[in-house]
Amino acid sequence: MTDLHVVDATAEHVDEIVTVIHHAFSNRRTLDPPSTALTENATTVGAAVGAYGGLLARIDGEPAGAMLFTVDGDVLELRRVSVNPRFQGRGVASAMVGCAEEAARRRGLGRVRLVARVELPETLEFWRRRGYSIVAREGQNLIHAKAMPIELVVPTAEEMQAIAEEVAGQLRAGDVLVLSGDLGAGKTTFTQGLGAGLKVRGDITSPTFVISRVHPSLVGGPALVHVDAYRLGGIAELDDLDLDASLEDAVTVVEWGHGLAETLAPDRLDLTITRGDDDVDETRNLRINPVGPRWAASGLRLTAAHATDVPAALTAQRSEGN
Ligand SMILES: Nc1ncnc2c1ncn2[C@@H]1O[C@H](COP(=O)(O)OP(=O)(O)O)[C@@H](O)[C@H]1O
Ligand SMILES: [Mg+2]
Repeated sequence: MTDLHVVDATAEHVDEIVTVIHHAFSNRRTLDPPSTALTENATTVGAAVGAYGGLLARIDGEPAGAMLFTVDGDVLELRRVSVNPRFQGRGVASAMVGCAEEAARRRGLGRVRLVARVELPETLEFWRRRGYSIVAREGQNLIHAKAMPIELVVPTAEEMQAIAEEVAGQLRAGDVLVLSGDLGAGKTTFTQGLGAGLKVRGDITSPTFVISRVHPSLVGGPALVHVDAYRLGGIAELDDLDLDASLEDAVTVVEWGHGLAETLAPDRLDLTITRGDDDVDETRNLRINPVGPRWAASGLRLTAAHATDVPAALTAQRSEGN
């Protein structure tokens, strides 16, 4: 059994964090230009923790991992992501990333970003597997980012459409949205809001015999391609559909059943609509998960009007046995 704990860093953790950073970075192969991590000391780390916080991971009470936070706009930046080499392969980094993403959501931040060196393929693979995309390159530094999922409580159909209209305002040709949820969840209702926001022609309805329908723009923008795959039980590839419009020139919405089609498109918004337990209530829960480099680079922002009280995490502490 391993006792792995991640805690929100405070002033009392500064010395342990400095120790972990030094262990991690002095053990790393020499890079050109070298990392400045070894210049960190109690003063610099203390200032960073005081300003934005960070994380400390302990295994059996010993400092095993650390990272520092910076906030830049709606982005949580992870700095000095460190694991003491003695504790490598124990899930320390994964646990810290989970806590960092939780911290980002708790603070209402839309994205998480970090820098990884191009010379460290294992590190790049680590971030790729956790859904991070390379959004820019500065010399040897690859800027990685990931958009955080958004969870909303949607009390009425009108509110669902208003949210969709706001999403529409951030869409461009080539974008794909996959809507999952039971029959009657509100997938078509959401799509109607998208149509209104994109200003496309034609009523958006639940097609009974038609699998897909193209709604051309009335304002010279992208068309809306509306695909209802709910009754089909799935399509292997979006490209397999015989569509009248080219997907690169349109915004494509796929209504889906349960079980997301990960292969549909590398860049997409995955939306899941669920009802509360209370059947008389019209309230829906909407989860929007932005996937891929397109959203990692730009993020998706919704106004506070729709934002609900996301329950604050009870504790940042996480215990994992293995
Ligand atoms: N909060 C809500 N969000 C979305 N739809 C709602 C909501 N409350 C009630 N409704 C109603 O639920 C129904 C959803 O139907 P529809 O959008 O066709 O679902 P789906 O396409 O998922 O099968 C509509 O009649 C809509 O007016
Ligand atoms: Mg529908």
